Amino acid sequence: MQEVVLETRGLVKAFGAFRAVDGVDLRVEQGELRSIIGPNGAGKTTLFNCVSSTLRPTAGQVLYRGRDITGLPLHRIAHLGIGRAFQITNIFPSLTALENVRLAAQALGGDNLKMWIPAASLRRYVDQALKALGTVGLAARAGLPAAALSHGDKRKLELAIILVGDPRLLLLDEPAAGMATEQVPELMRTIADIRSSGDKTILLVEHNMNVVMSISDRITVMHQGRILAEGSPAEIKANEAAQSAYLGTG
Ligand SMILES: Nc1ncnc2c1ncn2[C@@H]1O[C@H](COP(=O)(O)OP(=O)(O)O)[C@@H](O)[C@H]1O
Ligand SMILES: [Mg+2]
Repeated sequence: MQEVVLETRGLVKAFGAFRAVDGVDLRVEQGELRSIIGPNGAGKTTLFNCVSSTLRPTAGQVLYRGRDITGLPLHRIAHLGIGRAFQITNIFPSLTALENVRLAAQALGGDNLKMWIPAASLRRYVDQALKALGTVGLAARAGLPAAALSHGDKRKLELAIILVGDPRLLLLDEPAAGMATEQVPELMRTIADIRSSGDKTILLVEHNMNVVMSISDRITVMHQGRILAEGSPAEIKANEAAQSAYLGTG
């Protein structure tokens, strides 16, 4: 059996009396591409927020490679090798694509607040940024201001910003949100390539069922803060509870 990269134990996130995440036990193995699906409000983003320390869980634990990381500060999470993309894009519009990715590399390299960086370090950050832009297919647009990129290219840029830190675990929350339909397969191929090209584990929230069924090793279905079903794409397709919850008829 593969190493368990990410585990949550009895994870709860309450907002007042309401439990957005209500006792989630998740185990994701090394190298897996795991999709989390479920209707709007199921708690998917809140789960990601707890795993990435954007939110502090109300109860339960988050373990990364067997280590308890519950409530660790955000920057420590990134340094452990957990990369997080947000549902809402967070890029600097007036900077070029390359500068956006380079700044992310610098921040992880510990040079984010420095006015002057040694030329060799700067070169290294630029090289890392160009490589990440190449992986997502944006190399040719590296010099454009982020504001000039199409919506789909902005989502690719966001992915490059995560990749530049070379994370071992990627949390991708609706990476194709708002993209033109015809661009989605390309982004998903990129995500599948990222997984198969190295030792990366990917947790993906995605609404397009065709994409989810074709790309995932395993699927976790969430409903009202809990795990409703889990299994291979074929198992989830055949699971009536999962189907009705997702279609909103259950
Ligand atoms: N900061 C918050 N305060 C209060 N309620 C929240 C907050 N964040 C999320 N929720 C609620 O928690 C539930 C789960 O939200 P979310 O995790 O965003 O769901 P999903 O990503 O599956 O659509 C929703 O009912 C949402 O309104
Ligand atoms: Mg969400």
